[in-house]
Amino acid sequence: MTRTLLAAALLLAAGGAQAQKFEGLADTPQMGWNSWNKFGCEINEQLIRETADAMVTLGMKDAGYRYINLDDCWHGQRDKDGTIQADPVRFPSGIKALADYVHARGLKLGLYSDAGATTCGGRPGSRGHEYQDARTYAAWGVDYVKYDWCDTKGLNAEGAYTTMRDALRAAGRPILLSICEWGDNKPWDWARDVGHSWRTTGDIYACWDCEVSLGSWSTFGVMKIVDKSLALRKYAGPGHWNDLDMLEVGNGLTPEEDRSHFSLWAMLASPLISGNDLRKMPEAVRKVLTNQDVIAVNQDKLGVQALRMLTDGPLEVWIKPLAGADWAVLFLNRGEQVLERGYDWHKQPLSDDLSKRSADLKKTAYRWTDLWQRKTGDTAKPLALKLAPHGVTMLRLTPRGSAL
Ligand code: GLA
Repeated sequence: MTRTLLAAALLLAAGGAQAQKFEGLADTPQMGWNSWNKFGCEINEQLIRETADAMVTLGMKDAGYRYINLDDCWHGQRDKDGTIQADPVRFPSGIKALADYVHARGLKLGLYSDAGATTCGGRPGSRGHEYQDARTYAAWGVDYVKYDWCDTKGLNAEGAYTTMRDALRAAGRPILLSICEWGDNKPWDWARDVGHSWRTTGDIYACWDCEVSLGSWSTFGVMKIVDKSLALRKYAGPGHWNDLDMLEVGNGLTPEEDRSHFSLWAMLASPLISGNDLRKMPEAVRKVLTNQDVIAVNQDKLGVQALRMLTDGPLEVWIKPLAGADWAVLFLNRGEQVLERGYDWHKQPLSDDLSKRSADLKKTAYRWTDLWQRKTGDTAKPLALKLAPHGVTMLRLTPRGSAL
């Protein structure tokens, strides 16, 4: 082999090794907490430390949450060499110290940046500083970057996100890349190997089915985001998820809506990034966010996003094939009245074109476990549904005979 060929082969091998470090970071949807939904720009290092502590002491870490993500407004200015600094008033100890604090608790730290010159909150973006910022993040011990799309006039999205991906790879530390361009440039068509997840819509709002217009920008309630995800299910899978946005559980929805929102995000294999004040959450909210059985549906290894199998008036039936022979089935009442209905399992087989799995419940009976009510039953008998307005029943089906 000539010297040039050898050098090229070594370079390729190094590139391959770097790429490998980024695989496996999101084999199942990422789980964590993000500051934006509750705190906006009002963040500081004490809040972040207390949130990391709460994540451990309140059982969130045990339930699978890992990332503590600072959203917009952690930034100060760039120094004379162009290196980004943390806001010296809000983060006087710096991001490295915060990462050390978070890591010491077995958690990971995330930061937010933007592909444009300024972030949505008007702080310095990464445009023109991508490799420098990636090196700074790696040196600080950052594990996750959410990369936004404000102030990006004239930029090509695929190119800009690929640049940041390559910059992170070159920096050498495994860092999860969360793409946030609101679905504007159809990231599902090109981002499978660029980021680990991509936002599908504009920002979530803590309401059930509203759309709030703020000039040229809209925010969306839970069901609006769910409806927009319907056409995108085939693009999701291990390592590349549809991100339905950070959770609004605990931020003002009704208790029923909190459970439904969380169940839907689990069924739809979205990242589960809590967005409430963990330090002050009521026990009822904690119970929703730490429901291990619902989380297991989200984290299922097969990684198939749920299919809406049936719509019948206000009733929707969603199914998600799980690894092995299990299924998750979600009954959702979109309406404003209590919905009482019998559901005959024999009427329609469960069938999913993506995983090519189906279950004819006339032929095979399944045992079910109600993941919120902790009841059990059998598909041999029709299911007696009683759903509160905006409420759900979420079941896990297991072939009869196998242990639950
Ligand atoms: C955009 C993103 C939000 C949040 C804000 C911060 O709106 O979509 O999730 O990061 O910016 O300014």
